[in-house]
Amino acid sequence: MATLGIPNETHTGETRVALTPDAVKRLERVGVKVVIESGAGEAAGFDDASYAGAAIATDADEVWSACDIVAMVGAPGPDRILQMKRGAILIGMLNPLRNDELVSACVQAGVTALSYELVPRTSRAQSVDVLSAMSSLAGYKAVLLGASHLSRQLPMMMTAAGTIRASTVFVIGAGVAGLQAIATAKRLGAVVQAYDLRPAVKEQVESLGARFVEFQIEKKEGAGGYAAAQSESEQEQQRRQMHAVIAGADLVITTAAVPGRPAPKLIDDGMVRAMARGSVIVDLAAETGGNCTLTSPGRIITEHGVTIIGLTGLPATIPFHASQMLSRILTTLLSLLVDKKGNLALNFEDEVVAGMTATHDGEIVSPRVREALGRSPQTAGAPGASR
Ligand code: NAI
Repeated sequence: MATLGIPNETHTGETRVALTPDAVKRLERVGVKVVIESGAGEAAGFDDASYAGAAIATDADEVWSACDIVAMVGAPGPDRILQMKRGAILIGMLNPLRNDELVSACVQAGVTALSYELVPRTSRAQSVDVLSAMSSLAGYKAVLLGASHLSRQLPMMMTAAGTIRASTVFVIGAGVAGLQAIATAKRLGAVVQAYDLRPAVKEQVESLGARFVEFQIEKKEGAGGYAAAQSESEQEQQRRQMHAVIAGADLVITTAAVPGRPAPKLIDDGMVRAMARGSVIVDLAAETGGNCTLTSPGRIITEHGVTIIGLTGLPATIPFHASQMLSRILTTLLSLLVDKKGNLALNFEDEVVAGMTATHDGEIVSPRVREALGRSPQTAGAPGASR
């Protein structure tokens, strides 16, 4: 029977937990025994007692040194990884494309690192797509945050004092977070407009009841349904035409992102100046530099009378449901890693397992990670070399 360890998170402000109590019994039935570090679920609303059927470890070493699989929301420090058993599996948002220290520790310890950032964006992988699940929560929360900082209300209201017009919300980037933001703003009664470089999303935007704003820019779609990075001149054209739409919006929510690149700068000082005082920008792309040039990552600031919200980690502000999503995804993923007798059985023929694996058996096996960390490509025939 494989053991799954759930340690306390290390990142300050992390409130989510990788496994919720409802999963413990289900995992036991498929041969996985759960060990929870005392307090791991506390911030998400799950105390030790709620994890009925799991072993509660009062010492973190009981998780790190003894378990076959350790699953987290974020990433541990290298010391913890070096404590793990050779051949053990580490699962989490490990940020392997930018975390050389973690990847090197996994290589040294012979730990197999499975990272949610590496999940391929294919239909089959959707059930383990943590980033999309978290982006949905962030899109929802962005609207609530924006609405609560706005000097106006979102819906039209007919009151004894007369009729108040609905506010206009403009969503830039209609990916996972953007579509959820559109749906949430619509439900709150706003007039919603949205823009994305990819013309393919027009239909989705309209099906949510929002207007798709079209600019006269050469549009591109890259491989795998992602937007291709724009050239400087395309970005300039877009900025000019966007000015007028932004000036007329009460709440702007920006989610524009191209994987592996800094966020495109779409809103400049002049555009913020053109917005009405008391308006709000929520910049979801703050962590990768922000879509607005004035955004201060991690902070809420006011410039030219406009509140600019650059908070990161929004999914951690909804810890109960975020943890529920993470737990369901982890349970699905475990079914791909453990055989019917509860023994570890990693199948690298499986595109999801193969795509997510950063390190295995003392090597960096993900070509994306090798490239991002400046390692030479793997020799043919090595595990993962064909990925
Ligand atoms: P996604 O990849 O599903 O969507 C991004 C969208 O932006 C795509 O539809 C793409 O076509 C569009 N886009 C790219 N360049 C553009 C441009 N120049 N103009 C207009 N549209 C453009 O990404 P997802 O999952 O929706 O995430 C969006 C952002 O939210 C990311 O930066 C992500 O890191 C961030 N995020 C922030 C959180 C927070 O707490 N602040 C939490 C979760 C995600």
